[in-house]
Amino acid sequence: MAEMTTVDFSQLTCGTRDERSKIVREIGRACEERGFFALVNHGVPASLRAAVTAAMEDFFALPAEEREEYMGKQLFDPIRHGAGRTLTADGFEYRRDFLRIFVHPTLHSPVKPLHFSAICEEYGRKTREIAHELLRAIWESLDLEEGFVGAIMDVRSGHQILIGNSYPSGPGPNLGLGLPAHSDIALLSIVMQEGSTSGLQVFHQGHWNLIEFIPDSLLVHVGDLLEIVSNGKYKSLLHRVTLNSTSARMSIVTAIGPNPEDRVVPLPELVRGSGSSSAKFRSIKYIEFVELTARNPFDKAALNLVRL
Ligand code: SIN
Ligand code: FE2
Repeated sequence: MAEMTTVDFSQLTCGTRDERSKIVREIGRACEERGFFALVNHGVPASLRAAVTAAMEDFFALPAEEREEYMGKQLFDPIRHGAGRTLTADGFEYRRDFLRIFVHPTLHSPVKPLHFSAICEEYGRKTREIAHELLRAIWESLDLEEGFVGAIMDVRSGHQILIGNSYPSGPGPNLGLGLPAHSDIALLSIVMQEGSTSGLQVFHQGHWNLIEFIPDSLLVHVGDLLEIVSNGKYKSLLHRVTLNSTSARMSIVTAIGPNPEDRVVPLPELVRGSGSSSAKFRSIKYIEFVELTARNPFDKAALNLVRL
């Protein structure tokens, strides 16, 4: 089981100055040492979390011909759906249905279910506010001014995607997975699941550790772009999804990044302050990094290709 830092979001937004400073330090330590943390008291109502999960379930339950138009799309199609299982030659199985939509700056929603768009808009807005607040804390933990970061990367009008993942029950990790080992591309991802079915594993100190979600919590992952901009101080999280042996599982993931046309660079203040005074990554446009990841999706392969 994975040990994790639990961050009380309400203390970040409404706490005293001392409480806030303590949370900022905790977030910084979690990003540096583990690449993820759990978030409690985040203010996303249980009813909204249940509604977005139900809306995704309703989408997956549509007849195949109504989902068909979103299948087999290209990387930058704003609505992309995939379903089913892949069996490799050596008997290994991947099983996941997913729907990925762009939610910001413009929301793209399938036509059905009818309530889908309003619910995803609301969930997207709430989680975006949380991500911006967390990023503010993260810049603070790195001794950076928000304005300084904003001059380099436009996160406020940046790109946000929402993904629904539906995994059936299945064999153990030596025979099958929901998702192979990967790190997320953007700055931060926020993972939500209803209920206690486990499946997500994180890699720490040479071992895969299962995440037990704290009821009502969200899980925050450091993404590859944050590893680049922090010049390697904060590490993106290597994770995979195992199939639960007894139950199906659903997760909702939202990822926040800058504008796709923005160039992502190790922030100069951090390069200067790092002692060795050298950048650990070359700069790359966000959109080019997405393409690189599509060609090198596993482990942290894309990030390693931009490492200097
Ligand atoms: C993902 O890595 O995108 C999915 C995480 C999960 O299903 O918990
Ligand atoms: Fe992921």
